[in-house]
Amino acid sequence: MTHKWTPKSWRDKPALQLPDYKDEAALKAAEDEIAKFPPLVFAGEARSLQKSLGKVAKGEGFLLQGGDCAESFAEFNANKIRDTFRVILQMAVVMTYSGSMPIVKVGRIAGQFAKPRSSDTETQDDVTLPSYRGDIINALDFAEDARTPDPQRMVKAYHQASATLNLLRAFAQGGYADLNKVHKWNLGFVTDSPLGERYEQLASHITDALRFMDACGINANNVPSLRETSFYTSHEALLLPYEEALTREDSLTGDWYDTSAHMLWIGARTHQSENAQVEFARGIKNPIGLKCSPAMSTDELLKLVDILNPENIPGRLTLISRMGHKDVIEKLTPLVRAIKSEGRHVVWSCDPMHGNTITSSSGYKTRPFDNILGEVKGFFAVHKNEGTHPGGIHIEMTGQNVTECVGGAESIGDEDLSSRYHTHCDPRLNANQALEMAFLISDELRSLRNDEAFARESFLTSAE
Ligand code: TRP
Ligand code: MN
Repeated sequence: MTHKWTPKSWRDKPALQLPDYKDEAALKAAEDEIAKFPPLVFAGEARSLQKSLGKVAKGEGFLLQGGDCAESFAEFNANKIRDTFRVILQMAVVMTYSGSMPIVKVGRIAGQFAKPRSSDTETQDDVTLPSYRGDIINALDFAEDARTPDPQRMVKAYHQASATLNLLRAFAQGGYADLNKVHKWNLGFVTDSPLGERYEQLASHITDALRFMDACGINANNVPSLRETSFYTSHEALLLPYEEALTREDSLTGDWYDTSAHMLWIGARTHQSENAQVEFARGIKNPIGLKCSPAMSTDELLKLVDILNPENIPGRLTLISRMGHKDVIEKLTPLVRAIKSEGRHVVWSCDPMHGNTITSSSGYKTRPFDNILGEVKGFFAVHKNEGTHPGGIHIEMTGQNVTECVGGAESIGDEDLSSRYHTHCDPRLNANQALEMAFLISDELRSLRNDEAFARESFLTSAE
């Protein structure tokens, strides 16, 4: 790829998964409108995220990326944003404390609207209409006008993303994320569950530690990092007209950043190296994610890594594997080996959601929680075997008390799915399941730490 990159060079490439906007003038008008809007994030923030991810790539941290499968216009409200943020904080604090590692927090939020689909159309009875592609493109109702892609939806999505980000910034920096408030992050319905209790215990340990440090003169007044956290946003870079309109040249460095989010990822359906989404992503300087499915070969992966991170900068590229619990060891191992033997710096993250979707006997699309945990364990096992760092987790979750994934400590069964199945898209972990996952990961991180300490000690003893 030697041709010159520009924010619109993707337009000369084959593009999958883009809507067919009928009214070109209306599309152009929406793009021009968004191109004049202020950026949602700043280049310097994307650089800080890349720096933190660079540490993760070296084994000095862990990435926690999570949020809705898809955001929607209908369910846009402050409580929902707060509850998602709260569960991410809880997971992060559990992992920071028990895993003794800095956790890089990235939401699938403030822009996660567009969805790739397996078919361009949907047929019900005798009627065929365009598929629903997410609220930034069209509406879910099965009716002609609802399903017609409307470019003004991008404008609406921008405003929703902007308000969401504003609230998240306030929560992260304005006192809500203060470690002295760990007890308050437990959501009402979680408090009485086994996970809620386990969380309360851990929160009490943290409160003790904070009191001890306060007595030593260290507190949130003189060390702001105790009361603030960095929270970043991300979404799939799918709908390129929207992404291009928000791509701006950074006045400090002259580099191009997609200011729609701090981090963007390339989905498993649009990772062809000759195609539009890869072309777009290669030129922006934001940290990039690449989903790796069981179909990806080592050659394909190495080629994409060359295109997306030619300078081999740690933190630039996060490889997000989504193999399914049965195949994770067999399919992930060769990829990890290839990246290691070629000396590529990447963050390895695990998406245990998308390879584990099934249709339950009651007809709901669901994900068995045991299989989700199974994939996470397989992911850690592969990295242990290969001597590489298990760097992160990518999950679909919500702070709402939903019943979408079967299993977990509350034993949600097939028959319970109908009671609170609210997703617009894929089944998400609820707050209890997300916490259970956080505890499992902390155990894995802790054993990693212990192995490292053991290795260091035996090295010291043998050196004596
Ligand atoms: N600033 C540190 C961090 O983000 C500590 C911290 C403050 C924290 N509030 C938090 C950690 C909430 C997890 C959750 O890691
Ligand atoms: Mn999904």
